[in-house]
Amino acid sequence: MPPANSVVIRPARNILGSLRVPGDKSISHRYAMLAALAPGRSRLENYSPGADCNSTLECMRALGCQITHDDKGAVIIDGIGPQLKAPAAPLDCGNSGSTMRMLSGIVAGQSFASELVGDESLSRRPMKRVMDPLRKMGAEIAATDDHAPLRILGTRLHGIDYVVPVASAQVKTCLLFAGLLADGQTTVEEPTRTRDHGELALRAFGAELTRTRNIVTIAGGQTLHPLEAFIPGDSSSAAFFLCAAAIFPESNLVIDGVLLNPTRSALLDVLAAMGSRTNMMRVEEQHGELVGTISLIPGIAKPVEIFGATTALLIDELPVLAAIAPYTAGIIVRDAGELRVKESDRLSAVTQNLQAMGAQVEQTADGWKITGGQKLHGAEIESFGDHRIAMAFAIAALRAEGETVINNAECTAISYPNFFADLEKVVER
Ligand code: S3P
Repeated sequence: MPPANSVVIRPARNILGSLRVPGDKSISHRYAMLAALAPGRSRLENYSPGADCNSTLECMRALGCQITHDDKGAVIIDGIGPQLKAPAAPLDCGNSGSTMRMLSGIVAGQSFASELVGDESLSRRPMKRVMDPLRKMGAEIAATDDHAPLRILGTRLHGIDYVVPVASAQVKTCLLFAGLLADGQTTVEEPTRTRDHGELALRAFGAELTRTRNIVTIAGGQTLHPLEAFIPGDSSSAAFFLCAAAIFPESNLVIDGVLLNPTRSALLDVLAAMGSRTNMMRVEEQHGELVGTISLIPGIAKPVEIFGATTALLIDELPVLAAIAPYTAGIIVRDAGELRVKESDRLSAVTQNLQAMGAQVEQTADGWKITGGQKLHGAEIESFGDHRIAMAFAIAALRAEGETVINNAECTAISYPNFFADLEKVVER
C-alpha cells in the first residue's frame, strides 16, 4: 500500500483528447490585488482554484475587502480604493511567493503596519529582492535575515528608478504596484524580459504605464476602475499535458481557452525546436492577454539547449521539461540558478527524482545536462512539498516501465487541485 497522500501513476500508451486547465495563477493574483485597490465591484470568472490564489484572496479580505463567490463560481471583489484597512492579524501568504512579494508593494504604500507570514518553504525564500527597493521608496521593513516574516511599516512612498538585479516578474510587479501608490514616477528596469501580466493587469484596471524594451514606467496616484474578466487557462499548467503528449508519438492533444501571452509561451518554441508541431487557433485578446486553443502533434527527435532570456521565460516549465528530457533527444539547461530558490530547490529535486527512476543526469550549478534516449523505471518520487515537482514526475512516470508512486502529492493543490483527475481524462492505456 502506498503511503497516505501518495498517488500511483501507471504507464500510458498515449495522450489523446481535449481539455481546459484552471485559470492562470499569475493573472489571478494580480487581478485580485488590483481589484482590491479599485473602488467598486470586480468580477473574476475562472479565478485560479489553487491554494496560492486563495491565500491572496484571504489577504485582501484581511485588508478590508469584501470577497464572495457568485452562483457561477466567479470571485466578486468589492474594492475599496488605494488605502486599505489595517489587518487585525498577520497576513498569511501560505506557500505563495507571488502573494508575499507582490503584496509587499501594496502594504508598503499604506498608512499602517502589516506583517506578512508564510509556511516553512516560503519562509526560506529570498525577500531581499523586494525589501531593498521598497526601502528605497521609503518603507520601513524588518525581517529575519532577509526572510519572512516581513514587518512592513507602510508610508507615503516616493517613486524611484530601479534596476532589478534578478529577472523576476514578482519583483517587477511589486514595484509597479508600489509605484502606483507612490508620489511621482517609478521606473523599473529588468535584466531580461519577464512575464508582463503586472503591466497588462494595471492597464486592464485603467492605469497608464509606458514600456520601452525592458523598462516600465508608472506614475503614482492613478485611480483604478473595477474589472469584469474571464481569466485564461494557466499556460504553466497546460505545460504538463503538452510535455506528456510530446513523448508519445501517437498523441493528439488539444487545450482550449489557454493563455498564449508571448512571455509565457516559450515552451511552444522549445517543443517546436524539438520537432513537435504546435498550432494556435481561435486566438483572441482579453484585457491585453492573448487566449486561444493549442494543439500538439508530437515530435522529440532534436536535442535542445535552453539558456539566457529563454530560461527566464520558461522558469516554471523547466521541471517538467527536465523530467521528460531522458525520453527526448536530450536537453541542456543553463542560467537557471533561480530554480534553487523556488518552492523547493528544483534543480536538486528533479535530479534526485530522475536518478531514482534510473536516469543519468548531470546537475550543474545552474542547470542540468540530460542525455536523450534513456529508458526509465517506476520509482518512489518525493515531491518535496512542491506542486510542480509532483506534477512533473507524474508526467515522467507515464513513459516509465512499471508503476511510480508520487509521495506528498497533495501539494498539487497549490496551483492545480484537479490535476490527477484531469490527467486521467487524456491518458490512454
Ligand atoms: C511569477 C513569477 C515567477 C514564477 C512564479 C510566478 C509571477 O517567479 O516562478 O511561479 O506570477 O510573477 P519569479 O518572479 O520569482 O521569477
